[in-house]
Order: sequence, then structure tokens, then C-alpha cells
Amino acid sequence: MKQTLLLLTLLLALPLMGQSERQTIRSGELWPDNNGTHINAHGGGILKYGDTFYWYGEHKSDHTSNALVGVTCYASTDLLNWRYCGVALSVSDERGSDIERGCVLERPKVIFNPLTKKFCMWFHLELKGRGYNAARYGVAVSDRPEGPFRFLYSQRANAGTWPVEFGEKELATVDTLNAANFKEQWTPAWLKAVGEGLFVKRDFGTGQMSRDMTLYVDDDGKAYHIFSSEENLTLHIAELTGDYLHHTGRYTRVAPAGHNEAPAIFKHEGTYWMITSGCTGWAPNEARMFSAPSIWGPWTQHPNPCRGPKADLTFGGQSTFILTTDNGRRTTDNGQQTTDGGQRSVNNPQYIFMADIWRPQHPSDARYIWLPIEFEGGKPVVRWRDEWKPFSVKNT
Ligand code: DGJ
Repeated sequence: MKQTLLLLTLLLALPLMGQSERQTIRSGELWPDNNGTHINAHGGGILKYGDTFYWYGEHKSDHTSNALVGVTCYASTDLLNWRYCGVALSVSDERGSDIERGCVLERPKVIFNPLTKKFCMWFHLELKGRGYNAARYGVAVSDRPEGPFRFLYSQRANAGTWPVEFGEKELATVDTLNAANFKEQWTPAWLKAVGEGLFVKRDFGTGQMSRDMTLYVDDDGKAYHIFSSEENLTLHIAELTGDYLHHTGRYTRVAPAGHNEAPAIFKHEGTYWMITSGCTGWAPNEARMFSAPSIWGPWTQHPNPCRGPKADLTFGGQSTFILTTDNGRRTTDNGQQTTDGGQRSVNNPQYIFMADIWRPQHPSDARYIWLPIEFEGGKPVVRWRDEWKPFSVKNT
């Protein structure tokens, strides 16, 4: 009997043997999941639902950055140890499908809609075989956080509508812009025209380009899609409908002609903070930071928030998401998105800056940078740490 019990215990413990619990976050190192495999969820984002954090990201293959699998999902209650939940949104084998295997499917983010009780996923989509020309967003939906997500549609953004700040004066200026007069790019005149809406006008009928993106749910439950538009020259923030599945048509432009991508956002004591990158493909560059008193702006640019080795290259990475969580009450529903909609304000918040160190020659080996955001003189700072423990860092 004793021997049988011992054998049974051993058998049950077998899957856990050889894997010790992870105690700290070590940016840039391999990050094994519960199966001992490096987490494959790049350009990702996190949703807190109940007591569980769900991490969604791009599955990257060994030799191509194109999507051969889809969006993966991992679950954790401590942000350190992640259980692989499988493929949340699978690419399709149907020829001509928007999400046909081999398309480019990047930067997926998931938010929970309290009215419909659905999990809503948005992502950057490029149609198979068309490089980065489609510049669309895609939307998928699921009844459960782990999926399976059902693909709904993909398209460009806000066709037929002007940004909210375009009044009579701006519309009159846009009216005078003629692409034929700006054949040479990157001249001061071209940049000025882009700032005034050269590409907004060009894409007015077919919809605005939509590439690198994130989602944000505000305290009042309103959700926003933030994406690189206008040939990656200008960021757009677009309001979502109550079911989080469409744009309402209201949108604003951030840093016109500023050439930003990789937007990540959080709100601290009433101020919206956004960290972005410049546009240098898979190669890292210096992070940028903006703040605004309202999601509709005005947005002001600040210096690079990174500190430490390679701070001028975002430590070798590129921003993807900022997780808001409660510092110290790790298993309650505080922090991140609440189940009734908004981003609950927490007493002692911790903001975690997430970035990717891309490995275009071996995409699945891309690494993660997760660092706590601290404040210096009222402004966010991202300081390099070799290792650190979530729920333990003072942010003031
Ligand atoms: C930079 C973007 O941030 C990535 O998501 C990806 O689109 C690469 N460019 C492709 O070069």
C-alpha cells in the first residue's frame, strides 16, 4: 500500500519535476512556461480577468515573422509563472481568408466587454503576400478568455470621417493639399503637409492606415484603439463602440508627422502617459513619451523615459504594452481592467512597461523586457533592472 502511494505521488509530481517556480522577472532572458518552453507571445498585451492575468501575443516561428499559427494565450496569477493555454486565435487555411496562414498578424490586445460579456481581440493585420501594404486592423471575439476567438472582420479605419480637431480652418487647409505638389518626401514642406493631413485626405474615402496598435479601456468604460496611421507618420486614437467591436468614427491625431509606432499607454492620477518608439523596422531605437490631460489631448512630448545601459535604444527592445496592476494585492480584482468595464483606479498602482527584443533572424527566440515604471519629478521613468519582483516596487 505504502509503495503504491509513493508511486502515485511520484507520478503526480513528475510533470513539475525539474521546473522550479520563478521568483523574479529577468528581462532579456529565456522565459519558460509551465512546459519548460520559452513563452511565445510577442508584441503582446495582458488582460486581468478575475484573479488571473491572461497574456496574449504573436506566435512567432523559427524562420519567418509571418503568422503560421496565430495568437497564443498564457495564464498566471503572479505574473512570473505562466501556464500555456494554447492558440486563442488561429490563422486560417482557407485560401483568400483575411487571416490566411502566412499573413502578418501583429500586436494583438484583448479587452473584456461588460455589456456583452465577450472578450474582444484587436490586432494589426497585413494580408498574405502583400507586405505591409494593407495596413488594416482585425477584430475577433470569444466567450472565454483563452478562446477560441472567432475572426469577425478586418479593414482600414474611420473611412469618411475627419479627426475631431479638424474644424473649418483645418478643413480649408486640407482642401488645398495636393499630393502632386509633394513628390519629394522628407522635405520640410512635405512634413508640414503630412502634419496638416496630406495622408488623412488621401485615405479619407478608403479608410486610414492602421498598423502598430494597442487598446485602452478608460475609467468610464469607454475603450480606445491607438494605432500608427498615415504611413506610420501619425498616431490615431479612435473611440470604440459600446460593444468594443467597431470604431464610432470619432478619432484624434497624436504627434502629426512625428513618425511613432509601438504605442503603449496608462493613466496615473488623471494624466494619460503614452510611450512609443521611432520607426526602424525590427531594430531598436530611442523610446519617446507623451502625456495629456484627456485622451483627446492635447498631447505633449517629453524626453526618453528609459534609464540605464542601452537606455538610448530602449534596452534593445520596442514598447508593446503597459500593464496597470495593484502593487501588493496580487490576487484581487484590483488593477488592470475591471470586469465591469473601466481601468479601475487603484490606491497603490504598479505600472509595468513591456517591450520586445526582436530577433528577425530567429523570431521565436525574441525576448521580453518587463520593467516597473517609477516616477521622478512627477514623470514616468523606466529604469533597467537585472531582476525584480512584481508587486514590490514603489512607484514614487
Ligand atoms: C516594427 C513594428 O513595431 C513591429 O510590430 C513590426 O511591424 C516591425 N516593425 C516590422 O518591421
